[in-house]
Amino acid sequence: MRRAVCPGSFDPLHNGHLEIIARASNLFDEIIVAVSTNPAKTYRFSIDERLQMARETLSALRGITIEAMGEGLLADFCRRHGADAIVKGVRTSADLAFEVPMATMNRHLTGVETVFLAADPGYAHLSSSLLKEVGSLGGDISGFVPRSVYRRMTAPPPGRA
Ligand code: PNS
Repeated sequence: MRRAVCPGSFDPLHNGHLEIIARASNLFDEIIVAVSTNPAKTYRFSIDERLQMARETLSALRGITIEAMGEGLLADFCRRHGADAIVKGVRTSADLAFEVPMATMNRHLTGVETVFLAADPGYAHLSSSLLKEVGSLGGDISGFVPRSVYRRMTAPPPGRA
């Protein structure tokens, strides 16, 4: 049984993430989507919302589970969960330059390997931060995020319903 972790902030999950998770699930028997919390980051969505959006979108799919990663090391999360690999999507050479040192560090820490999947060109322009910016300025992001995310991104702020 080969198990891999797809980690990320998923703030929010978008179709580029889904594309990578779906392709990863063709390569591994089990995928754990690990939703991280980095105390140095400010999130648009709480950890509970990010988990809920991932669950609403993905939990019907066989072999995929969604878990909070907490604030610790990804390598330790992988060891605790018996994961053989980390799967990351890469959109650009800049992504790869950023990811390779982390992949090497994670392998040195616990032996976990990182598998890079080249993002499909149809999704390579997507990032959570770009979608938050475009969405907040009124751009149409409906084709780029799952329904459960779109609903939350377009909900009126509390008190203005
Ligand atoms: O979606 P993001 O914010 O780019 O995801 C980044 C993530 C969660 C993959 C990365 O921040 C991470 O690995 N965090 C866990 C902390 C850790 O292990 N740091 C050392 C990396 S070698």
